[in-house]
Amino acid sequence: MKIVIASDHGGFQYKNSLLKDISEHGYEVTDLGTFTEAPTDYPDHAADVAHAILNKQAERGILICGSGVGVSVAANKFKGIRAGVCHDTYSAHQSVEHDDVNVLCIGQRVIGIELARDIILTFLAAQFTHAERHQRRLAKINVIESENMK
Ligand code: RB5
Repeated sequence: MKIVIASDHGGFQYKNSLLKDISEHGYEVTDLGTFTEAPTDYPDHAADVAHAILNKQAERGILICGSGVGVSVAANKFKGIRAGVCHDTYSAHQSVEHDDVNVLCIGQRVIGIELARDIILTFLAAQFTHAERHQRRLAKINVIESENMK
């Protein structure tokens, strides 16, 4: 599976440290930045990941900032992106199985790196169930998008 990952300065250390783990588990991961510790603006990185997914360069994305919240807010402004902040492994798989989340958001200032690693690997291994009730709910989200996003 092709993955894109990006962070601002607030997630820079975790992004760099976890890249190797992700690729060692068989995922083809592309690092979209940031590439230094210099402060950056998290919406720019969320946009990079969103564009890569919407352009089908990757199936899933991982965004890391200080809290995970800023990047999730920005990523969810893109039609077709379903981004969720997950700081536990249950949410990491359930968000894919039920909600077809395609972008995982993590806060480097919130959880330890070992939990972040487990959450990422859990998220990447999970699959949408395609259960009728989940498809129905996603269809309602698509209607909300169509009616409210240009
Ligand atoms: C950067 O200081 C911080 O605001 C950013 O990484 C993120 O936590 C925003 O939600």
